[in-house]
Amino acid sequence: MLWRVDPAKPDREVIRKASGILRSGGLVAFPTETVYGLGADTFNAEAVKKIFLAKGRPQDNPLIIHVNNRQMARELTIGINRQAERLMDIFWPGPLTIILPRGEKVPAEVCAGLASIAIRMPAHQVALDLISYAQLPVAAPSANVSGRPSPTTAMHVYEDLGGQIEAILDGGPAGMGVESTVLDLTSPVPVILRPGGVTVSQLEKEIGEVRIDPHIETATFNGDSGEKVNFQPRSPGMKYKHYAPRAPLFLVEGDGRRVTAKVRELVALKQAEGLRVGVLAYNETAGYYSQNEVLTVGSIWSAEQVASRLYSTLRRFDELGVDVIIAEGLEPQGFGLAVMNRLRRASGGKVIRV
Ligand code: TXA
Ligand code: MG
Repeated sequence: MLWRVDPAKPDREVIRKASGILRSGGLVAFPTETVYGLGADTFNAEAVKKIFLAKGRPQDNPLIIHVNNRQMARELTIGINRQAERLMDIFWPGPLTIILPRGEKVPAEVCAGLASIAIRMPAHQVALDLISYAQLPVAAPSANVSGRPSPTTAMHVYEDLGGQIEAILDGGPAGMGVESTVLDLTSPVPVILRPGGVTVSQLEKEIGEVRIDPHIETATFNGDSGEKVNFQPRSPGMKYKHYAPRAPLFLVEGDGRRVTAKVRELVALKQAEGLRVGVLAYNETAGYYSQNEVLTVGSIWSAEQVASRLYSTLRRFDELGVDVIIAEGLEPQGFGLAVMNRLRRASGGKVIRV
């Protein structure tokens, strides 16, 4: 059930078998350029229900539909506007998901009953070939158990979902490491519902003003259910705690030297409580915490590098069995905003600004 495929030139026989599974209502996990997805036939409501079951995903959190050409995207919606055409020209295939009015052929379950639909064309040959052989738009959330860090390797998928799904296509590590940018085009001014690989300034260069949904960072979470309190989000996914390792994670953000001082202070505090503390740090700062369980996610100057290692590092803390994680933030600019958004969400609101 774990099938290896060449990410650049996928074996046809493997893709044919996997697409057959999708066509007959089964689930297949596959690599994309962002993270691994868990795919099903968009038009098969029963198959789509299996995705929610396998992930333990709340029913009200809609899926992203993956296509391999524009025509397929058109058939999923009742209105592709000029902005959408422009964005597809520039950013597809790639890490941009656009939200448009939902077409009638799409079962309500896929979009959690919303009148809108999220669509993207992934920039990964395995994903594109799979869609092309299946001749179906493929509904696919990230292939993790709901709430856990998204999978960036086939092994992560196996850890979370092995035994529950028909096949996993192993195309090596997903390159980018964080999920696509989600952009809502159904309102007069487009709104970013999730920052990702395509940045705010890249979008504004093409279509003018873009808003960032204020709910992205600021809600309070219910510590038990992980659900946010008093909160009416535009994207149901914002409502839930996400990307989180098992140990509670505290995020320290702000001015560099103050951050390291604060992290050390928190580490000492937690250790005094008898806890095993993990520190998430950068190449440049790891030396400050040498007496602890330190994992480095790359250079503080390279959000790209940090993104590609973030989720596997969060999973590694679980393997190490630490009781609590103290994480350093980085500059939330450009692609760094996507990384910080995931860290803030992983912290479930436990953010300390210094
Ligand atoms: O990079 C990605 O986007 C990956 C790969 C597999 O393509 N997929 C992914 O899917 O991250 P998922 O399900 O983990 O995240 C989808 C997000 C959720 O936050 C969901 O609430 C939002 O997109 N979403 C989907 N449809 C929506 C809609 N119609 N309106 C608002 N938000 C929507
Ligand atoms: Mg996800």
